[in-house]
Amino acid sequence: MAHSTKSTTSQFGKIGIGLHWISALLIVILLGSGFRAGFTTDTDVKTAALQVHLPVAILVLILTVTRLIWWWRFDTKPGPVAGIPPWQDRIARWTHRGLYAAVILLLASGIAMSVISGLPDALFGSAAFPELAELPPRAGHGIGARVMVGLVMLHAGATLYHHFYLKDKTLKRIWFQKA
Ligand code: HEM
Repeated sequence: MAHSTKSTTSQFGKIGIGLHWISALLIVILLGSGFRAGFTTDTDVKTAALQVHLPVAILVLILTVTRLIWWWRFDTKPGPVAGIPPWQDRIARWTHRGLYAAVILLLASGIAMSVISGLPDALFGSAAFPELAELPPRAGHGIGARVMVGLVMLHAGATLYHHFYLKDKTLKRIWFQKA
């Protein structure tokens, strides 16, 4: 039986699943391209990495706004997976909120950095590559990125533990086949 567009009390709907996995893939690309740029002093490598980073970040901005509106106005997330202890459900909820907060912090600090430095003109025009290291939002972006890596590991690690060890429906219900 096919998924419905909206979620049920025990299963995510097609739109929620699509938004989740597209955002996840793009965020992994942002972490990869971001650290590639952040850890090199070679301007050509930095430029190439950020030519991927900025457009993908704009896609994540659009998807994040879409997600927030989708869950706020049009759909309701399923309840906790059957049999999950309340403390685990609480940690999961706070991890999800933390992931949203980290994404918003990274988007805001990234956009601030770009606006202040004129970075897009260097990446997609002919301006010289600006100095980014001393910009105030750069520090928040670096800290936010490391918090994000920790939260992603907690989020993905807990899901894999549920899927392979406890063998419950945590992963299946946000996948494209019915739990
Ligand atoms: C979910 C959104 C984002 C994620 C996960 C992300 C991730 C990262 C990571 C991991 C780094 C490396 C940090 C470090 O080495 O300390 C980085 C650097 C950077 N990001 Fe982002 N980023 C996001 C959004 C944005 C946005 C919206 C922009 C600009 C419009 C942006 C522009 C930059 C720039 C300019 C750097 C600095 C590179 C350097 O110092 O060489 N990022 N980002």
